[in-house]
Amino acid sequence: MAVTRTFSIIKPDATRRNITGKVTAMLEEAGLRVVASKRIHMTKDQAEGFYGVHRERPFFNDLVQFMMSGPVVVQVLEGEDAVALNRKVMGATNPANADAGTIRKELAESIEANTVHGSDSEENAAIEIAFFFKPDEIVG
Ligand code: CMP
Repeated sequence: MAVTRTFSIIKPDATRRNITGKVTAMLEEAGLRVVASKRIHMTKDQAEGFYGVHRERPFFNDLVQFMMSGPVVVQVLEGEDAVALNRKVMGATNPANADAGTIRKELAESIEANTVHGSDSEENAAIEIAFFFKPDEIVG
C-alpha cells in the first residue's frame, strides 16, 4: 500500500480540555506522522467554507459556531493509506457508535464535540489540505 496524506482537525473541545498532545499521540501510535501542524482560531468564513458540503444540514449553523468556539489544530498526516488509517483510529462520527480504543470513543464528548475531523477520501484530503496549508508548510 502507498504512503498517502490526509487532513485532520483537533477540534475546540480538545483544545479546551488541553488534550491535543493526547490526541496526537494516538494518531502517531496508529502509524500516522504529523507532517504539518498549526493552531488557529477559525474565522466564520473558514468554518462555513470548510464545511460547505453540509450547508443544507440541520446541524450546519451549530457546527460552524462550535468550530469557531475556540482554537483548533489543523494537521496534515502521512502514513500507509492515511485516509483509511486515520478514520480507523478516529472511530465513528458519533462517539456512542465508536469502537473501543478509538479517539472518539475514548475522548469525544458528543456527535458535535467529537474531538477530531478527518478527510473521508483522498480527493477530499487534497482539497482540505490546500484549504489550510501552502505546499511549503508541509514538511514530510
Ligand atoms: P466531522 O467529521 O468534522 O464532519 C462533519 C461534522 O458535523 C461531524 O464531524 C460532526 O462533528 C458534526 N455533526 C454535528 N451533528 C451531526 C449529526 N447529527 N450528524 C453528523 N454530523 C454531525
